[in-house]
Amino acid sequence: TKQSGLTALDYGFVNTASTRSAITYIDGNEGILRYRGYPIEQLAQNSTYLEVAWLLIYGELPTADELGAFDERIRRHTLLHEDLKRFFSALPHTAHPMSVLSSAVSALSTYYEDTSDPENPDHVEMTTMRLLAKLPVIAAYAHKKSVGQAFLYPDNSLSFVDNFLRLNFGNLAEPYEIDPTLSKALDRLLILHEDHEQNASTSTVRLVGSTGANLYASISAGINALYGPLHGGANEAVLQMLARIQDSGESVAKFVERVKNKEDGVKLMGFGHRVYKNYDPRAKLVKESADAVLAGLGVNDPLLDLAKELEQIALEDDYFKERRLYPNVDFYTGVIYKAMGFPTRMFTVLFAIGRLPGWIAHWREMNADPATKIGRPQQLYTGAGERQFPQR
Ligand code: SDX
Repeated sequence: TKQSGLTALDYGFVNTASTRSAITYIDGNEGILRYRGYPIEQLAQNSTYLEVAWLLIYGELPTADELGAFDERIRRHTLLHEDLKRFFSALPHTAHPMSVLSSAVSALSTYYEDTSDPENPDHVEMTTMRLLAKLPVIAAYAHKKSVGQAFLYPDNSLSFVDNFLRLNFGNLAEPYEIDPTLSKALDRLLILHEDHEQNASTSTVRLVGSTGANLYASISAGINALYGPLHGGANEAVLQMLARIQDSGESVAKFVERVKNKEDGVKLMGFGHRVYKNYDPRAKLVKESADAVLAGLGVNDPLLDLAKELEQIALEDDYFKERRLYPNVDFYTGVIYKAMGFPTRMFTVLFAIGRLPGWIAHWREMNADPATKIGRPQQLYTGAGERQFPQR
């Protein structure tokens, strides 16, 4: 359209492909994000990952009994089939954890093919529990695989987040000590990632699910969509960007000039958004907690100061103001994940664990809607008109 000056309407093309959903509301201009009507600020402050997961999936906040039963059911599903653990040994230790995660979810589905029928509500419920319980375990095994350490078994006496942290940072040589600062900080970050309306990975989950594919297949596809550096992979790319600036000795101002000149396609990773043309409310919440979390963990990371300097310069620069580019959820999260002890390549895996309840909620909403038809994005044909094959 930019080149031809023609609009979609000139081609007789009206895009009616909009998605109706009652799950999450975003106002990109006002920087508003609400899960089932509750402002993200209030949920991040007062709720937990599992309570918000219930809210997103079932539509209302759970009672204490409902939440307790939900937590209990998830704990009962944390074990992976012993054969599935051998799946990891077929992969190189250098495998990116996001590739491990998406392929392990597909492999997981092979153990449950007789209980994953999208048309069977009991199967949908069971698959929901299995994914919520097992994805963190698979993620932790991907992490352990990459560092050459033994896999631990889940400890169902621990909370969801503590179980996950122990699977990542515990080892067979010594008892794992729960760190409440770490648990609270990670639970809050997971809440901030739980849903975000029709982003690329959620749209992928809905599109794959609309074909009748089961929830495992749809989630595996969503993980692959999230992997991209323009989407969930940005949190990993931000840390790489900050480390490159630090290692190069280049001034932040000089780096920002290179971004503005679009040198070698360099972007300010963690900035910009398809919807937010104002400050991403999640980025504000992450930034607010970054100082406290690093101080609580006794970590002093110059990359946090570098990120703040980068943000300051960018927010005052007309190039970014004119394009309404602000920090998004990925800009500060990596510094916190690094302080927690996660390797950079695990950052997007943490995003996937956070986003899982939203993916499930959207898949179930789509799957339950009798009006759902198979997804078929429309195209704007810009190719050649009819022509005859040459006579030979
Ligand atoms: C997530 O959709 C969601 O909700 C996603 C997400 C979720 O929770 O699911 O919020 C998670 O994916 C957040 C985004 C993470 N990605 C990044 O941080 C990667 C860096 N950001 C950019 O690649 C970009 O901002 C996108 C991909 C996020 C948005 O791309 P758009 O829509 O093409 O950006 P735009 O149309 O607003 O760009 C307008 C201008 C362009 O310049 P001009 O051609 O007008 O000169 O701004 C420029 C872009 O080149 N621009 C950037 C930039 N982002 C846009 N320039 C430098 N650095 C950037 N980050």
